[in-house]
Amino acid sequence: MRRIKIRGGNSLEGEVTVSGSKNSALPILAATILTSGTNTITNIPDLLDVKTMIRVLRALGVIAEYQEPNSVRVSVNHSVRRVAPYDLVTKMRASFFVIGPILAKMGLAKVPLPGGCAIGSRPVDIHIKGLKALGAEVTQEHGFIIMKADRLKGSRVYMDFPSVGATETIMMAATLAEGETLIENAAKEPEIVDLANYLIKAGAQISGVGTEEIKIQGVSQLKAIEYRIIPDRIEAGTLMIASAITGGEVVVHGAVREHVDSTINKLREANSIVKIEGGSIRVKGGKTKAVNIKTLPYPGFPTDMQPQFTALLSLGQGTSVINETVFENRFMHVHELRRMGAEISLEGRTAIISGVKALEGAPVKSRDLRAGAALILAGLAAEGESLVEDIDGHIERGYEFLDKKLCALGANIEEVSNISAVYEEDNLK
Ligand code: EPZ
Repeated sequence: MRRIKIRGGNSLEGEVTVSGSKNSALPILAATILTSGTNTITNIPDLLDVKTMIRVLRALGVIAEYQEPNSVRVSVNHSVRRVAPYDLVTKMRASFFVIGPILAKMGLAKVPLPGGCAIGSRPVDIHIKGLKALGAEVTQEHGFIIMKADRLKGSRVYMDFPSVGATETIMMAATLAEGETLIENAAKEPEIVDLANYLIKAGAQISGVGTEEIKIQGVSQLKAIEYRIIPDRIEAGTLMIASAITGGEVVVHGAVREHVDSTINKLREANSIVKIEGGSIRVKGGKTKAVNIKTLPYPGFPTDMQPQFTALLSLGQGTSVINETVFENRFMHVHELRRMGAEISLEGRTAIISGVKALEGAPVKSRDLRAGAALILAGLAAEGESLVEDIDGHIERGYEFLDKKLCALGANIEEVSNISAVYEEDNLK
């Protein structure tokens, strides 16, 4: 577990470049299983989650290794192992993405059911329903999902919810199915478009991606390719909020403007000054005003930006209402923000925030990736020192050197080895 000490009060100034997208890299690395040959995937963020996915690929008999900090080479031959390792799939839910590619390539896949996590039970019923529609025989034994299909057959698949992962699982499996698959009520996130672009470049026939109807015409095989991952829109949004919450002025380079439109609009509504300057976004913090937010599937406001925005709205004028419609338990950060003086009440999936003049540094715990980011952001603006205990290393799982990037913008952050270094007896007045 990492402990990050933050001394608040510095306004962030300067320029920062966004890394590659975690939520693009993970499904695309899984999709390499569908190909034969050597893939080179570039602009891959240097994250623990990426390292975990590389270990999953190796456990399947695939040769996967970093070529340099941000590129991974994945060599796949005509067969892979059919069983994904329990310890890795339960360590990272996104490992479940390998089930579709293994099934489509090998006709048999055995993958542990991913556990829940801090933000919700995270079922995979939509993934399973979709693969069943493509002809998979599905059983569950001793915590493993086992799927069999000599050859998947294209079909019409209606998604009960536009699940990002389930859309990706079904789209990947359908690329090698016999005939045409139509996914209805599909998710439209940029990471799905990125995955589709990788698959199309590898020889898949996919149309309609980025809309709620995706059509896939099955082919017999996919070839290994070179591919560059899109920038991480959630990291970009997090860095934009770091500028806003500290009343600073930061230029974020490398984000795709339309991928962060909803965050830009909400920041402007909350009284930040946001200017688009070519391929960069300049954010100047103002006195934060209350705004209401409802998280929705893309292109709505992203659930992955909700904790960070909750931190921003904790400081400022007026009352904000945040409605989290995507996950059932994504307010863990609220209990910790309250320890810093935030005035937030919870009613089911709604948070009501009364902005306060100042937050106070405090020891806090983060149990999920975006909650951790939110607590760091709050620590940047709080009076005094905060200590963020990053339970299970979520922050470094999902952000490439976030603390280093923030320090380069003027933040006062360091990693500490033990908690007593910060809150000793003599600190008590
Ligand atoms: C992806 O998770 C992202 N992860 C999440 O980012 C992101 O929050 C989420 O999409 C929503 O945008 C990756 O891409 C690796 P979902 P995923 O399936 O695919 C329910 C981060 O911080 N659901 O769209 O798991 C589910 O319980 C992470 O980077 C079912 O009920 O999200 C949730 O309530 C957190 N059955 C809702 O749908 C299913 O079979 C959205 O989940 C699948 C999902």
